[in-house]
Amino acid sequence: MDKLIYINGEWVGADLAKIVVRNPATGEAVGTVPRAGAEETRRAIEAAHEAFPSWSRLTAYERSAYLERFHDLIVDSADEIARVLTLEMGKPLKEALGEVMYAASFVKWFAEEGKRVYARGIPSHKAETRMLAIKQPVGVVAAITPWNFPAAMITRKLGPALAAGCTIIIKPAKQTPLTAIMLAELVEKAGIPKGVVNLVTGNAAEIGNEFMTNPMVRKVTFTGSTEIGKELIRQSADHVKNLSLELGGHAPIIVLDDADLEKAVRGAVASKFRNGGQTCICGNRIYVQEKVYDAFIAKFAEAVRKLKVGNGMDPGVDIGPIIDRDGYEKIDAHVKDAVRLGASCVLGGEGRAENGAYFYPPTILKDVRPGMLIMREETFGPVAPVQKFSADEEAARYANDTPYGLAAYVFTENYSRGIKLVEALDFGIIGWNDGLPSAAQAPFGGMKQSGIGREGGIEGIDAFLEVKYVSVGL
Ligand code: SIN
Repeated sequence: MDKLIYINGEWVGADLAKIVVRNPATGEAVGTVPRAGAEETRRAIEAAHEAFPSWSRLTAYERSAYLERFHDLIVDSADEIARVLTLEMGKPLKEALGEVMYAASFVKWFAEEGKRVYARGIPSHKAETRMLAIKQPVGVVAAITPWNFPAAMITRKLGPALAAGCTIIIKPAKQTPLTAIMLAELVEKAGIPKGVVNLVTGNAAEIGNEFMTNPMVRKVTFTGSTEIGKELIRQSADHVKNLSLELGGHAPIIVLDDADLEKAVRGAVASKFRNGGQTCICGNRIYVQEKVYDAFIAKFAEAVRKLKVGNGMDPGVDIGPIIDRDGYEKIDAHVKDAVRLGASCVLGGEGRAENGAYFYPPTILKDVRPGMLIMREETFGPVAPVQKFSADEEAARYANDTPYGLAAYVFTENYSRGIKLVEALDFGIIGWNDGLPSAAQAPFGGMKQSGIGREGGIEGIDAFLEVKYVSVGL
């Protein structure tokens, strides 16, 4: 599968050096994409800049019609996209298909939401003036997207950007450009005018630098690590770029002693092991109240033992490979550190590396303590460390003791305890008796070092709009 990049409605880059995309389950090459740099990125930005006036002048209904067509094409090609997604990213095919439908849902939601960008009339303090707040598209948007959700993290940005009237340049992760390119092919097929959507693959430093320094780019939207997010904040200073950042997480799962344990186990398995633990919102540390600690661990282990690890293309697989060696080594270091400091392994605990592919089994660690690496850093793998606590306030204190604030999970059947806990947690997303809170219509984003802004929901389109206040003298 040798693919090209998409600039100004044309497929280009055949003359550039190639990046080989590999299947993380086998180490085999699955395709190539061009290694573009600053020059191609500049051309893509210019194309987006040129397309902006006409795209932003279309009515919201006209833009919506394009997005509806794009949505339908994604749904029609879902199996084909899911296959490529699994080949380059590794997640099990059924999860890949779920992701493609999740990706489509953002396009659908924002096709509709674009028609509801309302202006506001403000009562004036002077009889001879009228006051209005109107909303306009930010302008050219650069989107930098991650490998863990190669389809959905693109549409969660592209959908609202286009609905708002912005034009866009997408830079997908180097590990997963093929899914992104398939989406760009559907953009073309949907008849979205040239230059409105552009896609470049290649040298991340050069592309990122062009995004951050080119004055035509008015907004940068990024999903990825907190480390890179901080770098983007620094780089954005000179041009005061509008930034949306969805960064790292370190989600706590809190199980209170009145929780329905079946529900808590179901939720913890869903949150922790979705995408093999390689999501920003997956539970990274589990706090269980002492009275139900042993019972929870027993039931949790029984459920987790059934999860099958393997090549995501094989039927029945629940957990695919770890994306790469760095990811694998981090997981391994977290487990080893916890065991060295006194945690015990209930399940798993030993990964395997074969022919450039890395697999880690679902692992449960018990009796972990706050100082351990795994309780301080995002693991991004299928490891569930469990710690005991006594009082509800203690759980909130442990949970908040992190620079991150993306997602948290609470399991309790008691509404008073639940509400108090929800209010005490410094996280942008809370799953209360729910291990899978993400949805196109809900705001997604973090507090503290987990990011700036929200994606999805009514907030998701605001991120691509500027408010203009107009005072009219009569
Ligand atoms: C992420 O891991 O960044 C996205 C997860 C989601 O949308 O649920």
